[in-house]
Amino acid sequence: MNNEEKNNFGLQSIETIREAVNALDSPLLTRFLKRNIICSHQDLDLILKDVKNSYLYTGRGPSSGSMHLGHLIPFFFTKSLQEVFQVPVVIQISDDEKLLFRNCSLEEVEENSKENIKDIIACGFQDKTTFIFQNTKYIKHLYPNVLKIQSKITNNDSFATFGVKMTSNIGQTSFCAIQAAPAFPSSFSSTFPIGGKRSFFSENPRCLVPCGEDQHPYFRLTRDVAPKLGYNKPSLVCCSYLPALTGVNKKMSSTEPAGAIFLTDTVKEIKNKINQSFSGGKISKEDQIALGADLEVDVAYQYLKFFLEDDEEFEYITNYYGPDPKYTPKLLSSVVKNRAIEVVTKVVFDHRERKQLITEEVYSLYTRGY
Ligand code: TRP
Repeated sequence: MNNEEKNNFGLQSIETIREAVNALDSPLLTRFLKRNIICSHQDLDLILKDVKNSYLYTGRGPSSGSMHLGHLIPFFFTKSLQEVFQVPVVIQISDDEKLLFRNCSLEEVEENSKENIKDIIACGFQDKTTFIFQNTKYIKHLYPNVLKIQSKITNNDSFATFGVKMTSNIGQTSFCAIQAAPAFPSSFSSTFPIGGKRSFFSENPRCLVPCGEDQHPYFRLTRDVAPKLGYNKPSLVCCSYLPALTGVNKKMSSTEPAGAIFLTDTVKEIKNKINQSFSGGKISKEDQIALGADLEVDVAYQYLKFFLEDDEEFEYITNYYGPDPKYTPKLLSSVVKNRAIEVVTKVVFDHRERKQLITEEVYSLYTRGY
């Protein structure tokens, strides 16, 4: 491992590809990079050398019907990559995973999947080049690769990588093969339904997986298996997680509703939640005006980091809300919270508007073909 690499199972620091990503000239990618939301990668340079010969693969486990604000991040990120690369995107809805790991029933995951797929489409993916599939329905096309992958992964690997135990159900032990399979283009070779572009996948494109850093264990294993099957290793680009309302040391999660802003929340709910979110501001007004806030732990500031598009305004808030003594008097936390409320409310409501336009017909453009 060279100096540039983080000592983190081969994940490389984003510094190694900063220039190349900036050159892609995408406002969201540039912003995410500048604000360290894109946080690590593995072999992204191989993709950037020949982007046209690639496809993007990401996914979602449909554990609940209503997605939250944090779920949008990897999808906004993937969509922006699709925009600049102009390549196909495949999106796995791992309904099977949520049945096995979260005890959801098949009926429940089926309903959640439908709702989640609409939320994902509403992120703005191109209909002709995006394919969204539920594992329970697409499995027959994945199965040849799933089998090959399963034959190369031991129980030891699975136990050590995913915390699977002897007492876990046996579906958990082998699930990793199902998440790995779409990282190999032959999983789509006979059925890739998008605009009849079968030939696209016959060129043996490289796979790039944009995802949250917590998915890395799956792809570490996938990369280990790839050469054993004569396949290319998938590349990875990871983004960091939106923190929970209750504090930056936790990621926003549906299992802790108090810490999450759901895409179904009302204006009032969003306002109350952000007003009550963890603040990095000083306790007394006088101290805050004189000294500024701890930006790293301030949740409202962190939400602005993810969603405020205007770089100049973001820099102004960073300077005048943060601790740098060059900039005084400091902004009050209430001002920053109010701005975060405005920005987040707009993100949620714009999203909802786009979602309302998704008819059955639009839905089937993304999910057809299996
Ligand atoms: N395991 C992910 C989750 O629990 C879902 C997922 C499936 C995924 N395939 C993926 C995420 C590929 C990123 C990339 O949400």
